[in-house]
Amino acid sequence: MIPGLTNPVAPMPAFERHVFVCTNTRAEGHPRGCCSAKDSNAIRERLKELVSQRGLKGKVRVNSAGCLDQCEHGVTIVVYPEAVWYGFVKMADVDELLESHIVAGKPVERLRLPPGCINTERCPHKGGGAVQIGLGR
Ligand code: FES
Repeated sequence: MIPGLTNPVAPMPAFERHVFVCTNTRAEGHPRGCCSAKDSNAIRERLKELVSQRGLKGKVRVNSAGCLDQCEHGVTIVVYPEAVWYGFVKMADVDELLESHIVAGKPVERLRLPPGCINTERCPHKGGGAVQIGLGR
């Protein structure tokens, strides 16, 4: 047992980056939609594949997340430790996200959700609200 720890289980090294991809599924026609209907499972699988190809297993973890409550902005991905929130992520964005943020540490600005869209009741994607959006599409 490690001195000072009350848990007898040896600690696991921390991941350098932890990527959460929302793969939540809702019934068709739900007003908020869901990320799985926008290909989030395939996006997660591609991210995992790229992490493996780049030899980052053990340093970078890609996990499936339940609803991140940003459904209107899906596919939603959040990367820690920086807590960078991405929205409207498409399969075509995945390689850039991996290379720029996960490998080089430079977030992909065009995919970032603006602070005014995160955890707010209203924003341009939720039917109103004046928020300066930085998304390229
Ligand atoms: S369904 Fe993905 S954020 Fe809610």
